[in-house]
Amino acid sequence: MKQSEIRIPLTEVSYDELTDMQRRLIDDARQATHRSYAPYSHFSVGAAILLDNGEIVTGANQENAAYPSGTCAERTAAYYAHARYPEARFTAIAISARGTDGHYLKSPISPCGACRQALLEYETLAQANVTVLLDGADGIYILPSVRSLLPLAFSEF
Ligand code: THU
Repeated sequence: MKQSEIRIPLTEVSYDELTDMQRRLIDDARQATHRSYAPYSHFSVGAAILLDNGEIVTGANQENAAYPSGTCAERTAAYYAHARYPEARFTAIAISARGTDGHYLKSPISPCGACRQALLEYETLAQANVTVLLDGADGIYILPSVRSLLPLAFSEF
């Protein structure tokens, strides 16, 4: 038997400690929550993806009366980014959310499993780490890669 442990590198910072570009990404993710369509959950998520061509692409969760047809903010942004700029590579993503009371979450928002898997695909494509910023009013988590959010990820290769 062999026992081991997988650790996740995580840095917690305040908004003021962010770099200018990180702050811009967080601001864009926060603004994107206001473009969410969430009449069922009333939970508004925004994502902002920085591409290596300098563009920032945002997305927000889009719900549907047929519940499973809705899409999370992260995948809305990721799929649009790659559809719009197929040659560009992802370099960073910021995610923000407002709860049913309309206020930004105090603790950092954490993306769902399906979004982690989808984002990992674009990180693999980029052949470079994609920085992940998880927004919370009381602190922002910075992870160095999508892979660090999804240890033991599924891969065909
Ligand atoms: N949602 C996201 O957009 N991103 C996440 O990381 C978690 C959940 C959305 C899906 C649904 O529209 C609402 O939040 C409530 O689950």
